[in-house]
Amino acid sequence: MNETHLELCASDEWREIVTERILPWALRDVALGPDVIEVGPGPGITTDALRTAVARLTAVELDPDLAGALSDRMHGTNVEVLHADATALPLEDDRYSGAVSFTMLHHVPTAELQDRLLAELARVLAPQGVLVLSDSVASDDLAALHHDDVYNPIDPSTLPARLARAGFTAVDVRANEFGFVAHAIKP
Ligand SMILES: C[S@@+](CC[C@H](N)C(=O)[O-])C[C@H]1O[C@@H](n2cnc3c(N)ncnc32)[C@H](O)[C@@H]1O
Repeated sequence: MNETHLELCASDEWREIVTERILPWALRDVALGPDVIEVGPGPGITTDALRTAVARLTAVELDPDLAGALSDRMHGTNVEVLHADATALPLEDDRYSGAVSFTMLHHVPTAELQDRLLAELARVLAPQGVLVLSDSVASDDLAALHHDDVYNPIDPSTLPARLARAGFTAVDVRANEFGFVAHAIKP
């Protein structure tokens, strides 16, 4: 992430949006179960909120500095932070009761890699495991915020087919002018 984007993702303003709007919308009526994987935690504002709701959280972050800082901050808690690429997870099959990704898919540079990430989440989820994805939709303002950075927003109308191809069932996608939430189940 560029410096402006990183500052925003660690700000009190973003914490309020995450805790007051994004997570309540994404997690309403969802039971993630006790063992959850989060991909793309960044500075960890989503991690801070999620970890209070689950017994065990594994947070997988690609950026070495962000992964290191979050690992230090989460030391001694119910969160394990892995510095790894969510498109090639160094984790066993069929383990997690829930998998989540918040405001990170647009940072994955190609549709092919995004689809690989979805397939990886299907692989590591246990049967009947629950997937929750949320991200913003494309806008000129967000494109400007990602100056000199990866910006590959997902068109939510493509998600039902992409999630089915990745191995999910019971796909439900809701979108508004700001973003989308997708729910799905690993059969
Ligand atoms: C915009 S931040 C979102 C942070 C947090 N989820 C939130 O909503 O506040 C996106 C994060 O995803 C991470 N990321 C991008 N590609 C990734 C990948 N392939 N595997 C794991 N993390 C990735 C980035 O390094 C960045 O920290």
